[in-house]
Order: sequence, then structure tokens, then C-alpha cells
Amino acid sequence: MTLLRWKDEYSVGIEAVDHEHKELIDLINRLHAELDAPDAKLTVPAFFGDLLKGISAHFALEEKFMRDHGYGRLDPHKDDHERLLDELREIMDAFENAEEVDAVELSLRLDAWFTRHFRTHDAELHRAIGAHPH
Ligand SMILES: [Fe+2]
Ligand SMILES: [Fe+2]
Repeated sequence: MTLLRWKDEYSVGIEAVDHEHKELIDLINRLHAELDAPDAKLTVPAFFGDLLKGISAHFALEEKFMRDHGYGRLDPHKDDHERLLDELREIMDAFENAEEVDAVELSLRLDAWFTRHFRTHDAELHRAIGAHPH
């Protein structure tokens, strides 16, 4: 089940960042699909691991870009990255400790986790310094 879909309007005008956003969307979609599998309890932790690795590298790239451009809203953006990493670790712990996983609830939580930042801080970065790709 594909819940998140890339749209051109999400483009921040920086090819490397767009590419990673697409990959992260893909990873979250694969995680969604995996949650419904009967062996989810065994396979999902590896997806979470990939997501945590991918998102950490992505945040580092975005933060470097913002620093290089002297972006004025770097601090609140970076704070939100930290908050997202904490929240993802919480989601992972909750998953590992749960006797029964509510896949729907977890999917909704992951969607909200990713898209809120994407549509606020990343969109703001786009408006401030992203070159319009079209
Ligand atoms: Fe960001
Ligand atoms: Fe981002």
C-alpha cells in the first residue's frame, strides 16, 4: 500500500535533497507494506534501522546545505530534525516492546512524523533558497 507519494511541488530545488526525499518516501512505503506481513515483528526492525540511517544522513546533508547558504532558520530546522530522530527512536522502541502491533496506528504515526516536517521546515527551506526547478 502506497500512502505517501512524491509530488513535484515537494521539490526543494536541490537535486540531492529531492533525491533523498524520494528515497525516504520509498522506504516509508516499504515499511508500511511490511507492517501487514505475517512476519512483521521479525522483518520490520531492519526497515526501521534503514530508515534511521537514511534519515540521519539526509538531515546531515540538509544541515550542511543550510550552513553553506547561511540560512537564517537553521536552528529551528535542526531542532526539528533532532525531535524527529527522538520520535523515530521512540516509535522503534514501542514497536519492539509491543506484544501486539497496531499496524494502522503505527502507519499513521509514521506518516505524520515524516510529512509534517516535510511540509513545514523543508518547504520553508525551499521557499527561502531553493531554485525553482521548472
Ligand atoms: Fe529538514
Ligand atoms: Fe528533508
